[in-house]
Amino acid sequence: MTELEQSFSLDGEDLPFQAGDTVLQAATRVGRYIPHLCWHPDFAAHGSCRICTVKANGRAAAACTVQASPGLDVESDTEELNAQRKTLLQMLFVEGNHFCPSCEKSGHCLLQATAYQMGMEGPHFEEFYPDRPVDASHPDILLDFNRCILCELCVRASRDVDGKNVFAIGGHGIGTRLLVNSASGQLADTPMALGDRAASICPVGVILPKRRGFAVPIGERRFDAAPVSEQGESPP
Ligand code: SF4
Ligand code: FES
Repeated sequence: MTELEQSFSLDGEDLPFQAGDTVLQAATRVGRYIPHLCWHPDFAAHGSCRICTVKANGRAAAACTVQASPGLDVESDTEELNAQRKTLLQMLFVEGNHFCPSCEKSGHCLLQATAYQMGMEGPHFEEFYPDRPVDASHPDILLDFNRCILCELCVRASRDVDGKNVFAIGGHGIGTRLLVNSASGQLADTPMALGDRAASICPVGVILPKRRGFAVPIGERRFDAAPVSEQGESPP
C-alpha cells in the first residue's frame, strides 16, 4: 500500500489520508463532517473546545489533534458523542451572552450552526449572564466579548499572521477571558487594522467591522443556505 492509499475507518467507512494528517484534516478533505469549533484549516490545531472529540480505537480523542494512521477505527457520528457535544455547546451558550436574533454574525456563526447541527433546542443549564462590556474604542472594529468562546483563533492570527500580538487569553477557570494587549486594555490603543487576519477569523460574533451591519440579510447567509455538515472544506 502506497502512502496515498493509506486509510482509516470513520464511522465504518474507509477514508484515505496523507502522511501527517490528523483525523479532522483527512475527514474535512473528503467532505466528511466532524463537529469542531477551535480548529481552522489555516492554523495549527489548538485542541481546546473538545467538540471534535471522537473515539479512536475505543478511546476518547480530539479529532483535530489525533494523527490518522492505517487501520485506525474512528467513531464520530454516534448518539453518545453527539450528546456530549450538545452538552458542551449548551455550556458555552450559558457561559457567555449569546443573543442570536440580534447578532450580526447570526447565520454566519459556527457556534450557532454547530448547535443547530447537534439538535440543541435550548440552553438546558442556568444562564450565567456575565457582565462583559463591549469595546467600541477602535474606529473600524467592534469587540463584543459577550460571545467569545475562547477558541484563540484571533490570538493565533494576530500573532502568527499579522505579527501584532493584539490579543491574549488571561485568567483562570471561569474567569478566563480574552484580553487586548495594550496599556489601556482598549483596542484603539493597539496597531490592529480592519485588513488584519485577526479581524476576520472569529467564528462567532466578537470581532466585527463597524458600519457594516446586516449587509447580507438574514435568510441569505452561509448557514441559511446549507447546514455546517454540508459546507465541505471551506472555513468559516
Ligand atoms: Fe475565538 Fe473570537 Fe473569542 Fe478570538 S474573539 S478567542 S476568535 S471566539
Ligand atoms: Fe478539536 Fe476544538 S476542534 S478541540
